[in-house]
Order: sequence, then structure tokens, then C-alpha cells
Amino acid sequence: MEKREKLYEGKAKAIFATDDPNHFIQYFKDDATAFNGVKKGTIADKGVINNLVTSKLMTILDAVGIPTHFVQRLNDREQLIRKVSIIPIEVVVRNVAAGSMSKRLGVPEGQQLPRPVLEFYYKADALDDPLIIRDHALVFGWATEAELAWIEAAVKRINDVLIGFFANIGIRLVDYKLEFGRLASDPSQVVLADEISPDTCRLWDFVTNEKLDKDRFRRDLGGVVEAYQEVARRMGVSGES
Ligand code: TMP
Repeated sequence: MEKREKLYEGKAKAIFATDDPNHFIQYFKDDATAFNGVKKGTIADKGVINNLVTSKLMTILDAVGIPTHFVQRLNDREQLIRKVSIIPIEVVVRNVAAGSMSKRLGVPEGQQLPRPVLEFYYKADALDDPLIIRDHALVFGWATEAELAWIEAAVKRINDVLIGFFANIGIRLVDYKLEFGRLASDPSQVVLADEISPDTCRLWDFVTNEKLDKDRFRRDLGGVVEAYQEVARRMGVSGES
């Protein structure tokens, strides 16, 4: 597989073409932003850790029958992925109230929700990725009913698997953001895409409630690098080459 030109550069990742029209390379950067790019910084070796963490979680989900865009990790910062067109909806899954949900609804951070809550956000930087309702996605054609139904069913399984995986290493999966895409080779097939990492999840130590995720950067809590390293260490993915 030969790496070709850069096709897209986002805030935390870049996508490169390959000599195979159905495969891309996803490159993980150390750049960190928050509040839609208003706050900027870098987190040393974040890209390396997020590549390791995402690779492991995608592999686990693949093994339980969730189709993903992930093919294999290539090196420290790159992974081979199947080409997809991203559905322009961010799917946020919440098990515990925190972040924007707590702020918007006045619910204390840390309150366990009686069941997982699914939220949809429209991926549009110019609008700051607004919270939308399901019907907006349908009426504006961002996703079809069949795609949303598929995503909702997949999310239930993904959430069960991820909650269990993190609980096993002493981490509470508070909330996280998922993205899905349509395969270039068969657009009728939706797959899990993007990343699942401490950038896109809230991960709290089960015993101490210490935050082991990007909130340490967003909220200037310090110990950002150490938190990412701790997640990788508990997942057994640190130190791999
Ligand atoms: P929120 O509480 O700020 O809405 O975030 C919910 C979850 O989604 C949290 O785990 C962080 C993740 N997230 C992203 O991955 N990207 C984003 O742009 C935002 C706003 C949140």
C-alpha cells in the first residue's frame, strides 16, 4: 500500500490517499483543540496514543460484529482505513451526565443516567456543531431512516461492549462521540468510522473519579499527557511500536 497525497486535514487527524481507491490512511496529530478550535494546544505524543487506543477499540468492536472502517495500524501515527463518506452527524452516547448535557439541563456532572442517552449533532463547524433532533437529520437528508435505525442498533451493542471493556480496567465510560460513514465500495453499507480515544470520550477512574481524558486539556486541569498514557497503559497498548 503506497501513501499518496493529503486529502483532508482536520483538527486532530489528517487523511491521505493511497494507491488503492478504496483505502485511505488516517494520520493522528498531537494537536488538540477545544470549543470548536477556540482553544488550541498540543499534547505530546497524543497522536501515538490515540492511534493505539483507537486501533484496539475498533479491533474489539470488529470482533463482536460491528463493521468499522478500520483495517490495521501501520505505524506510530497511521492506520489503514476503508474509504467512507462520513455521515455528517456526530452521535454522542451518554451513560453519566457530564459536559454540555449537565450545562444545558442543569443536571450535576457524575449523575448516573437510568439508561444510555443518544444525542445527534450536525457536523458543521460554521454552526459550532449544533445539537439536532432525529427528524432534522431525516428532513434535510443527512441520513436516511434505515441508516439512523442501523446506527441506533449498532450504538446499543457498541455501548455494551465499551462499558464492559473500560469497567474491566477500572474506567467509567461517562460519554463519547461516534461517527459513521458509508463505504465508498458500497454506499448502502454503513460502518463505524473516525476514532474512539481520550479525545472523544470522557473516561473517569472508577474509584477516584479522576478524569483520564481531554477534559484535562479543555478545563486546564494539568496532567494531560499522563492521563492519556494511563488509559493506554491500562488498555495494555503502551510501548508498542
Ligand atoms: P459534550 O458534553 O461537550 O457535548 O461532549 C460529549 C462527548 O463527546 C465527550 O466525550 C466529548 C465528545 N466530543 C467530541 O469528541 N468532539 C466534540 O467536538 C465534542 C463537542 C464532544
